[in-house]
Amino acid sequence: MDKIKFLDLGTQPIANNFLSSPFEKEHLFNLSMGMDVETSLVTQMEYVEPSLMFNENYVYHTSGSKTMLNHFSKFAQEVKKSFCPSSILEIGSNDGAFLKNFKDDPSCKHLVGVEPCGNFAKITNDMGIATHEEFWTEDFVRDIDMKFEFIYAANCLCHIQDIRDALRAVERALTPGGIFVAEDPSLLDMVKITSYDQIYDEHAHIFSIYSLNMLASEVGLKLYVVDHMPTIHGGSNRVFFEKNSASNINSTVIKNIIEEEKAAGICDIRGIEGFSSKVENSKKDLIKLLHKHKDLGEKIISYGATSKSTTVFNYCELGTEIFDYITDSTPDKQGKFSPGMHIPVVSPVDLIKEHVDTAFLAAWNFRTEILKYERKWQNTGGCFITHVPEVIEYYNTMSPFP
Ligand code: TYD
Repeated sequence: MDKIKFLDLGTQPIANNFLSSPFEKEHLFNLSMGMDVETSLVTQMEYVEPSLMFNENYVYHTSGSKTMLNHFSKFAQEVKKSFCPSSILEIGSNDGAFLKNFKDDPSCKHLVGVEPCGNFAKITNDMGIATHEEFWTEDFVRDIDMKFEFIYAANCLCHIQDIRDALRAVERALTPGGIFVAEDPSLLDMVKITSYDQIYDEHAHIFSIYSLNMLASEVGLKLYVVDHMPTIHGGSNRVFFEKNSASNINSTVIKNIIEEEKAAGICDIRGIEGFSSKVENSKKDLIKLLHKHKDLGEKIISYGATSKSTTVFNYCELGTEIFDYITDSTPDKQGKFSPGMHIPVVSPVDLIKEHVDTAFLAAWNFRTEILKYERKWQNTGGCFITHVPEVIEYYNTMSPFP
C-alpha cells in the first residue's frame, strides 16, 4: 500500500501488555497513521508483529462487560430470526460471547470459532464450540475447506493487517449468497469526537464505509446494510455484505453515509490532515485539566485499564505523578502495571474503600454502565474527567453527561 502519514502518536507499547513488574522489558514502536492513496483506507504506517499482541496472554475478554454481553446476545437473536443459518463461523471468537448463543440451537449444525489467542480458544473449545487457534488468512480457509452461510467478525477485521487477504478468505469461506457481518470502530465517529485513542497497535485500520466498501467489492462482497451503533465501543458500524449478490442492493442510505463521510473530509488526505491538530489540542487540554486537579492536592485515579488509555497515557505522558492507580474489573489485569507508563492496576473495590477525588474515565465507551455503578461515589463529590467528545470535568450536579 502507498500510504501518506497524517498523525503521529509517538512511541507506544503493546496496548494490552500489562506488566508483572514495572521493570519488565517492553516492545516499543512508533504509532503513526496514514491514508492509503488508492482506497483511502486509514491504516497504521508500520504494523506490529501480530504474535506480540494476540497470544495466550491476551487479556481483553468480551464478557467482562454486561453491555457487550447483551449486545452480542441481542444480535444473535436477530441473526436467528433474519437468516436462520445452518452454519456459522466467527472470526476472533474471543470468549464465546456471541457463539455461545447458538450452542443449543438445533437449526445451527456447524458452529466454528477462529481465535489466535490460545487462552480464549481453549475457553470456547471447552464449551463445546469447535475453535481453531489460528489467525484468519486465506491459507487457513483453504486448509479447512468448509463453507458457511454466516460469517461474523466483531472488533476483529480492523485487527487484520493484510485486509485484502482477510476479505478474500471471507469470500472463499462463504456459501453462494452467504452473509458476512463485520463490526468495527467508525472512522467518522472517531474524527467527530476526537477519540484518537481508538488508535493502538491492535487497530491496524480504522474503517470508513467508503474504503471498506471499495476493498470488499474487489473480492465480490456486496455491501447492503450499514447499522451505525453510536454507543458501542465509542461509535461503531455493523456492516452486512452478501456474496455474489446479483441484485443492485447498494442502497440510497449507504450512498448518503458515504456522502457524509466525504463531506467530513475522511476520504481524502487533505481532509483527514485536520484531525491531527484536533488531537494535539485534546492532549494539551487533558494535561492542563489533570494538572489543575493535581495542584489542588487531589487523589486522582483512572477508571478502566483500557487499550485506549494506553494510547492516551503514552501520547500525553501521564503516569504515576498524576494517577495513584487504575481500577479495572478484569482479574488478569489486576496486580499488574499499565503498559509504558507503569501505573498500578487494582480491583475497583479499592475505589470505594479509599478516598478518591477524581477519576479519569478511561473506559469512556462504557460511561452509562460506569456512572450507574459509581453513583454513590459521585454523590459524595467524586469528579469524572473525560476527553471524549471533549476534555471536561463532570460532577453529579451536572446533568446529563454530554
Ligand atoms: P474496553 O473499553 O472494551 O477496551 P479497550 O480500549 O481495551 O478495547 O475495556 C473496558 C475495560 O474497562 C475492561 O478492561 C473492563 C473495564 N471495566 C471496568 O473496570 N469497570 C466497568 O464497569 C466496565 C464497564 C469496564
